[in-house]
Amino acid sequence: MSAYVLVLYYSRHGATRELARRIARGVEASGMDVRLRTVPPLSSTDESDADGDLACSLADLAGCAGLALGSPTRFGTMAAPLKAFLETTSALWLQGALIDKPAAVFTSSQSAHGGQEATLLSMILPLLHHGMVLVGLPYDQAALTHSRDGGSPYGAGHIGDRPRLSPTEADLADALGKRLAKWCRMSTDAAQGAS
Ligand SMILES: Cc1cc2nc3c(=O)[nH]c(=O)nc-3n(C[C@H](O)[C@H](O)[C@H](O)COP(=O)(O)O)c2cc1C
Repeated sequence: MSAYVLVLYYSRHGATRELARRIARGVEASGMDVRLRTVPPLSSTDESDADGDLACSLADLAGCAGLALGSPTRFGTMAAPLKAFLETTSALWLQGALIDKPAAVFTSSQSAHGGQEATLLSMILPLLHHGMVLVGLPYDQAALTHSRDGGSPYGAGHIGDRPRLSPTEADLADALGKRLAKWCRMSTDAAQGAS
C-alpha cells in the first residue's frame, strides 16, 4: 500500500468540503495519494454535505502518512461531529499511531471575525495530543499579507455565505496541501531510511 495523506472533514453546506477538495488537489499535485474522508452528522437535522465521500474509519486514520483536518467554524470552535469522531481515537492515541506524522487544519466560517483562528487552534490541540507535527502556511505565500479572504498562518480557510472559494482561498488551500505532502514525504522517507 502506498503512502497516503488523509483529508478528513465535516461539512454541512459544502464550503469545508470545497477546501478539502482543493487541499487534496495540492497533495496529489505533489505526487502523493489522497484519501478524502468525512464524518457522519450527529442528528438528522444536521445533514452533512459529503457529496459521496466515504466515512472515515480508524484504519484510515491509523494508516495515513499525514492528515489535513477540516471543520466549519461553530461558535468559534470545531463542529461537534468532527469532535465526536476524534473522541473515538483513544486506541490510536494509546498505540502512538499518529506520533511524528505531519498534520494541517482548515475551516470555513460565515464572517471574517467569526472565530476562524480560534477554530483552527481548537483543531490543533487534539492533534498535538496525538503527537502530530503541525504544518501551517508561511509568509512566502504573498496572499497572506494582503488577502481579506480566508487563510492564515494557522491553516487554510474560507469566509462567506456561499461555498465557492475565492481565488486566493483556493490558492492557499492548494499551497497547504502541497506543503503537507512535502513534509509527509520527508517523514516517510526518513522512517524508511531508519528501518
Ligand atoms: C451551529 C452553528 C454555529 C456557527 N458558528 C459560527 C461562528 O461562530 N462564526 C462564524 O463566522 N460562522 C458560524 N457559523 C456559520 C458556519 O461556520 C459557516 O456557514 C460555514 O461556512 C459552514 O461550513 P460548511 O459549508 O462546510 O458547512 C455557524 C453555523 C452553525 C450551524
